[in-house]
Amino acid sequence: MLLLDGKLASEHFKIAIKSKIDHYLSLGYRPPHLTAVIVGNDGASETYVSSKERNSKALGMTSEIIRLPSSCSEEELLNVIDELNLLAHVDGYIVQMPLPKHISANKVIERIDFKKDVDGFHPMNTGHMFKGLPSLLPATPMGVLMMLEYFKIDTVGKHAVVIGRSDIVGKPMTALLSRNAYPGNCTVTMCHSKTVNVEKYTLDADILVVASGIPEMVTADMVKPGAVVVDVGISRIENKNVDKGYEIKGDVHFDSVKEVASALTPVPGGVGLMTICGLMMNTLQAYEENYIKSHPDL
Ligand code: GUN
Repeated sequence: MLLLDGKLASEHFKIAIKSKIDHYLSLGYRPPHLTAVIVGNDGASETYVSSKERNSKALGMTSEIIRLPSSCSEEELLNVIDELNLLAHVDGYIVQMPLPKHISANKVIERIDFKKDVDGFHPMNTGHMFKGLPSLLPATPMGVLMMLEYFKIDTVGKHAVVIGRSDIVGKPMTALLSRNAYPGNCTVTMCHSKTVNVEKYTLDADILVVASGIPEMVTADMVKPGAVVVDVGISRIENKNVDKGYEIKGDVHFDSVKEVASALTPVPGGVGLMTICGLMMNTLQAYEENYIKSHPDL
């Protein structure tokens, strides 16, 4: 079984991103800048946002986190977004999800300048993606594609099954795996919580991408021998016997599925690292589009 090691793959792409940034800096350009907005103090969101900040700085970007209390109103958050849209040195920014219930995620996403939308969540970016036009792609599905590319997984004509229909992962993943590109050209089936006999589909999958949010839902008996299995799940499961008080589990039962799959991502250390890498790639792309192209002879 080939371990689809996110550390190995993400390091490869991060080296390429850093060398591009070093090149721009050597020409006298300012570094790319990524801002993350976090509302409230959800532990997992705080971990992700800190990791995004750490990674961007390690690649030579500048980065900042804007922390707003969970009591912040929708209007206050929209005002922060309006300011970020206007700030020339902010090439890209993200608003960490989930947001408190009193704030409409859709309203927030639609307010982001789509050229700075390095999460690829704005309808303008999703629209361009579905049409196969250049756009900022959502970071997690993009990270999965980068993983498949790094490990040279053959995707042409394969049956890809995606479990999950979220705007962030499931929906864009199906669009990207079916497009006429590499990685892509798959025949794609989307499964979700109302799918009857999900194993009927998963057992026919050459490539299985699991983004159900249900810890260890995919077990060996649901996987076709030789399949490539990509686990997008990251759940914190309480465990008082470990220092942190919780363990990280994916949506795939790793120990059983590793016996039947030809390739499998670990959790942690798999897709999560690729998501960060996708975000870094998008920030570089936004910087090139919004700043470098408008200062051609600095
Ligand atoms: N919450 C879970 N995944 C993501 C992501 O990729 N971006 C943001 N902003 N929030 C998330």
